[in-house]
Amino acid sequence: MGINKTEKQVLLDVQHLKKYFEVGKNQTLKAVDDVTLQIFKGETLGLVGESGCGKSTFGRTVIHLYEPTSGTVTFDGMKVDKRMSRKQAHELTGRMQMIFQDPYASLNPRRKIMDIVGEGLDAHGLAKNRKDKEEQVVRLLETVGLQAEHADRFPHEFSGGQRQRVGIARALAVNPDFIVCDEPISALDVSIQAQVVNLLEELQEKRGLTYLFIAHDLSMVKHISDRIGVMYLGYLVELADSEELFNNPVHPYTKALLSAIPIPEPEIEKNRRRIMLEGTLPSPINLGNECKFASRCPYCADRCKSAQPPLKEIKPGHFVACSRFC
Ligand SMILES: Nc1ncnc2c1ncn2[C@@H]1O[C@H](COP(=O)(O)OP(=O)(O)OP(=O)(O)O)[C@@H](O)[C@H]1O
Ligand SMILES: [Mg+2]
Repeated sequence: MGINKTEKQVLLDVQHLKKYFEVGKNQTLKAVDDVTLQIFKGETLGLVGESGCGKSTFGRTVIHLYEPTSGTVTFDGMKVDKRMSRKQAHELTGRMQMIFQDPYASLNPRRKIMDIVGEGLDAHGLAKNRKDKEEQVVRLLETVGLQAEHADRFPHEFSGGQRQRVGIARALAVNPDFIVCDEPISALDVSIQAQVVNLLEELQEKRGLTYLFIAHDLSMVKHISDRIGVMYLGYLVELADSEELFNNPVHPYTKALLSAIPIPEPEIEKNRRRIMLEGTLPSPINLGNECKFASRCPYCADRCKSAQPPLKEIKPGHFVACSRFC
């Protein structure tokens, strides 16, 4: 956790971001549907929610791998959209990077680690010559806990954890300020997960990095996140400081997610009440205007069926989108 809470500076400002996909005749899939949030310099913002709720699409849109359907993304004062000049877009690819869930799928199997990690150095003209590039790649590998001899190997010669370290080295090569970590530990053995989280925390500390850390479940983001956002069907339903979210969850969906986390103390675990949500996750295609959570909410009232409640600050820094608080 990297941020000194007294000096919050906004690095990424996301306003009413929407990303829709046309998926068939007159069918619109609202993958991200009106998300507003800020990410502060040096912090880790955890983003959680079930599979398909739009976490990756959100991450990809903020770093401009996708053009938003509407809404704005502003990075360090710079508007991130298709009107950027080539120079600005190039600068942004250096400052914003992404680490992926499946490091094997995201690393070209036919290229050696030297080329995979060195690619960004070439693209951004960061190496003076071949020798300088090699030295920088070796330094990057050492930074992520690998060794010089690994540069000469192919991705399949590594374990999952090592491959994720290569993915991290590749992201670091261009010296970014901001990294979208898209479920970087979900595919790893539990014993390896903590090592990768520790590495990411150490790098954040040393390099002043800012993270958007995406995960399926709250237990994975608890320790690394300063704040946590909970997404449901493309919408942010709750956002708060990590501790506050765990101690005082407000949205019924957040409560359900929290109740699913096993408690390591057997006596307490025995009495843990798991909140089972009714129904299944609705399809994000052709959704109406009702609250996105209406079909599964135990408190659903008539007013919830006419409009999506906005995200409202119910106490300093704690936001929730639920008509019981609007
Ligand atoms: N390029 C695309 N074209 C059409 N639909 C897409 C595209 N990318 C994502 N989707 C759809 O958008 C929705 C959100 O997908 P997304 O991958 O962002 O979810 P996620 O929260 O990252 O899920 P997971 O936890 O499984 O990674 C899903 O219904 C998905 O099928
Ligand atoms: Mg995803």
